[in-house]
Amino acid sequence: MGLFDGKVAIVTGAGRGLGRSHALLLAREGAAVVVNDLGGASTGEGADTTPAQQVVDEITAAGGRAVANYDSVSSWEGAERLVRQAVDTFGGLDVLVNNAGILRDKMSFNMDEADWDSVIDVHLKGHFAPSRFAAAYWRARSKETGAPVDAKIVNTASESGLYGNAGQVNYAAAKAGIASMTIVMARELERIGVRVNCICPVARTRLTEALGGDLMNPKEGEFDRFAPENVSAVVGWLASDLSAGVTGQVVKVMGGVVQLLRGWRPVTEATDDRPWTVEAIDRVAGTLFARTDRGVPPFMPAVGDV
Ligand code: NAI
Repeated sequence: MGLFDGKVAIVTGAGRGLGRSHALLLAREGAAVVVNDLGGASTGEGADTTPAQQVVDEITAAGGRAVANYDSVSSWEGAERLVRQAVDTFGGLDVLVNNAGILRDKMSFNMDEADWDSVIDVHLKGHFAPSRFAAAYWRARSKETGAPVDAKIVNTASESGLYGNAGQVNYAAAKAGIASMTIVMARELERIGVRVNCICPVARTRLTEALGGDLMNPKEGEFDRFAPENVSAVVGWLASDLSAGVTGQVVKVMGGVVQLLRGWRPVTEATDDRPWTVEAIDRVAGTLFARTDRGVPPFMPAVGDV
């Protein structure tokens, strides 16, 4: 018995890296998988059917069920086709893993319009568009049967988005948006039985190989902490019934550490029963604002920091 026997899953950007690993795990556990990948460069240019097809071949060679989809997740029509393909080919949809991504890092003052637009398109719109069509499908199913659908979305944000990494303003804005979208859609879809969660992964893929040097290579005598499979385990748990009751949550997975992350919330407060003036704000500023030598907040907080 597999965790996903009889289930149908879509994984976007599943031709390489983390998405490939998620797709292999879901298929190994019994899911029929739509392997979506445009097959472009890590900066988003170009297209190639090979990566998605290779993963499909890998899954079918191991006795699993999979079909390739080459649409861009940032295309509205492409996202609709993707969801329709899952339903037409395998008879339904139970799990959507939004994962496809690209990088075009630059400081804000050097960023051009194409760098901004393409990263926002692939990540933010590329998470929303498949989710939108999956949600419409699930809502229709739920209306038809009069029962909740029991489906799951797993999104992919990044701690660099949540903590605000310099040099990634396009990527960070998109990833923080994805974390917010996770909460909004979790609230919207709860009634029809869809849970929506989000991971912040760290893994050795082509996106990080250039950045991390050999920091992410396995160390002698240790397990391979930065292998994508290490992240897929969390995706598998979130996408399965084992995570019943968990929704609207963001979890970081890095090596042997898993952390629940929570975002914007009141940290300090000042009150007054008269209108605020500049002088009044200045009087309470000492307790209200963090003037810190730790850098620009939100710095990477320790567990339990407020
Ligand atoms: P990767 O480059 O190995 O895989 C991403 C895949 O997405 C590629 O195969 C690419 O062809 C595909 N893709 C790109 N644009 C697409 C589009 N418009 N439509 C369909 N497919 C498209 O990168 P990796 O590292 O596996 O990244 C996966 C996700 O994880 C991304 O969202 C990334 O931002 C996120 N992430 C990864 C981290 C890491 O440590 N590797 C850290 C934080 C976040």
